[in-house]
Amino acid sequence: MSGALRVLVTGATGQVGVDLVDTLRAESVPGSDPTWQPDSREIFPGEFDVIALSHRDLDVTRRDDVARVLKNVRADVVVNLAAYTRVDAAENDAVACTELNDTSVGVLSELCGEVQCHLITVSTDFVFDGNKGAAYVEDDVTNPLNVYGLTKRAGELACAANDTVVRTSWVLGVRGKNVVHLIADRVSRGESVRFVSDQRGTATFSADLARALVSVIRDQPAGMWHFANGEDVTWLDIARAVARHVVGNDELVHSVLTSDLDPVPLAKRPARSDLSTHKWTSSGYGAPRAWSNGLARFLDAR
Ligand SMILES: NC(=O)c1ccc[n+]([C@@H]2O[C@H](COP(=O)([O-])OP(=O)(O)OC[C@H]3O[C@@H](n4cnc5c(N)ncnc54)[C@H](OP(=O)(O)O)[C@@H]3O)[C@@H](O)[C@H]2O)c1
Repeated sequence: MSGALRVLVTGATGQVGVDLVDTLRAESVPGSDPTWQPDSREIFPGEFDVIALSHRDLDVTRRDDVARVLKNVRADVVVNLAAYTRVDAAENDAVACTELNDTSVGVLSELCGEVQCHLITVSTDFVFDGNKGAAYVEDDVTNPLNVYGLTKRAGELACAANDTVVRTSWVLGVRGKNVVHLIADRVSRGESVRFVSDQRGTATFSADLARALVSVIRDQPAGMWHFANGEDVTWLDIARAVARHVVGNDELVHSVLTSDLDPVPLAKRPARSDLSTHKWTSSGYGAPRAWSNGLARFLDAR
């Protein structure tokens, strides 16, 4: 594949990983919008030489293995999607969560620097406390409320200045395990669901995130970038929209406050952590589609 940009993806069988790998290979991705080209350049087959590594292929917490793979593969770009993402479990598993979300990102950054390979890693809106009262921009002050957010913030800080960090939020992939599937399954069986009306954020459809990551892989812009689908939303709004799409009404969807959840989730979550994509669009990339558009594509594809 001479001339192809060689891209190594870690955590490649996760929710974002499967969509990114297929996108880079110019293969179809369920729920994607083929008309949305944020950088106005179609992806052509063979443009990228993709090395997709699952957890089993490469455990990013093993420094020697990471060093060996980076030396052997000679990638131009590493996209790190390996992460500890179980937000509530992390509260009682801080050591493992830190090792994966913080230490291994620092190791990847250092070792990518040694082999002159550009690192792109993905972070989260949970680095914020939700008290701003408006959408968060890239250089807003962070203040994570939970172990997951603390370790992801530490991972951001472990990156070198020329690495790229893409913060995203509420990621939903057709091939991922997520609440949209749960809501759709339950309402289609006639079961009711309860979702919180007091957590506001930005949903991100992983097919769109994958396409956005391709722009970042091509351009390798340093620093922090936010990417999410448009318009802030609550989980209740999403649940109602899913029900209307699947069964034609939202009568089975009920509102609940976070404080009334039973059991109360172990990890605290920000009440409002929507991500502004102003930097993304003002840098010339196409505006992300609205969440309702992404959701309709997701539900049609599933
Ligand atoms: N999901 C969200 O709502 C959300 C929101 C904001 C940001 N993010 C960020 O987006 C990125 C991708 O998330 P995602 O939704 O795709 O998560 P995911 O589905 O949980 O995927 C994470 C991947 O990491 C792999 N992994 C775990 N431990 C590893 C290790 N030691 N070495 C190598 N791989 C390992 C997992 O493999 P196994 O399952 O086989 O262990 C899995 O394939 C992460 O950085 C996450 O923090 C996600």
